[in-house]
Amino acid sequence: MKKFIALSAIVTLIIAAANFVSCNNNSDKQAKDGTADSIQKVLDHGKYLATNVAMCIHCHSQRDFTKYAGPVTNGTEGKGGQLFDQNFGLPGKIYSKNITPDNETGIGTWTDDELLRAITQGISKNGDTLFPLMPYTNYNRMAKEDLLSIIAYIRTLKPIKNKVAERQLMMPIALAYPGQYLQASVDGNTKPSTGDMVKYGEYLITIADCGTCHSPLTPQGPDLSRMYAGGYTFNMGSNKVQSANITSDTATGIGSWTEERFLNKFHPYLKEESYNFDPGNQNTVMPVIEIAGMKDADLKAIYAYLRTVKPNKNLVEKFPK
Ligand code: HEC
Ligand code: HEC
Repeated sequence: MKKFIALSAIVTLIIAAANFVSCNNNSDKQAKDGTADSIQKVLDHGKYLATNVAMCIHCHSQRDFTKYAGPVTNGTEGKGGQLFDQNFGLPGKIYSKNITPDNETGIGTWTDDELLRAITQGISKNGDTLFPLMPYTNYNRMAKEDLLSIIAYIRTLKPIKNKVAERQLMMPIALAYPGQYLQASVDGNTKPSTGDMVKYGEYLITIADCGTCHSPLTPQGPDLSRMYAGGYTFNMGSNKVQSANITSDTATGIGSWTEERFLNKFHPYLKEESYNFDPGNQNTVMPVIEIAGMKDADLKAIYAYLRTVKPNKNLVEKFPK
């Protein structure tokens, strides 16, 4: 049964894939678009988005915070159970869920539509409302082909049996539900062409949800009206860390950063030795290892978009006491 659902997801995807050529004969030109290649392409794209852009894996796995930026522990991909709480400015304790294809404790029995609804509307299979810590308001803007690629990929994760604890909220979930910002359907979403760097960068930065972390934290939650001005304080136990001002303000933001400097903020973390150490009281929550894995063209598009964000003067101390 599980195999059947996984297969049907992939078939749906192939039908959705714009350039799919349905016959798979032996001529060289068409073999390039053959079924096996198309499936692999969709899965590779889904893996890239889930790991390095939408950061599903970063939140839904176990992480090792004895190392810099808390790399994901190998073999725990998708098992969930990561705790987010008051130390991160949240109204209670919220655990990421098991999104591996385990039938009992994961998403093994979920249909594509049920997954789409959870990921883009914040409604779980059983009808429960999900806390918007998972940026489903952002995923609500994602092109459907990207969403379906992610779904196809998470169905290929190793099933892990892991029952995740229930969340404990200090507010009614209805008050947190961002219903007014959600479109009822993602069918009309389009992906800007990569040639339009600013628009494409905006699309990527939305999916990556750089904005919530990079907004000032207030007692009511992150102030999204000052998105990218920084100042969200995270208490990691080992230290506090405050998100940077990444608007184009020259004095307090990254207005004076060249594209090269921006890429160099992330590139070192492609190498394990750059994060495989105990950072003591200078650790960070930013998924810098995952962001490092973004294609240069995608990072450059994000940079191009950030150049267009209004300068916002806000001096941030990276490691406040
Ligand atoms: C910032 C962290 C974060 C990111 C990024 C994130 N999630 Fe989640 N996700 C969560 C949390 C936390 C919950 C549980 C929320 C709750 O209990 O209210 C959740 C819930 C879910 C659920 C519902 C599962 C259930 O049993 O109800 C699914 C499915 C899911 N996430 C898939 C994804 C996918 C796919 C992505 C990437 C496109 C993703 N998540 C990105 C944190 C995250
Ligand atoms: C989980 C929260 C979180 C997310 C998500 C996040 N950041 Fe950050 N970011 C931080 C924090 C905290 C810092 C300061 C500590 C550090 O440098 O890691 C930071 C620092 C930075 C810096 C360094 C600026 C400076 O002045 O040194 C850049 C650039 C940056 N982030 C860009 C991004 C981009 C682009 C994304 C999305 C692709 C992103 N961040 C996503 C929390 C986050």
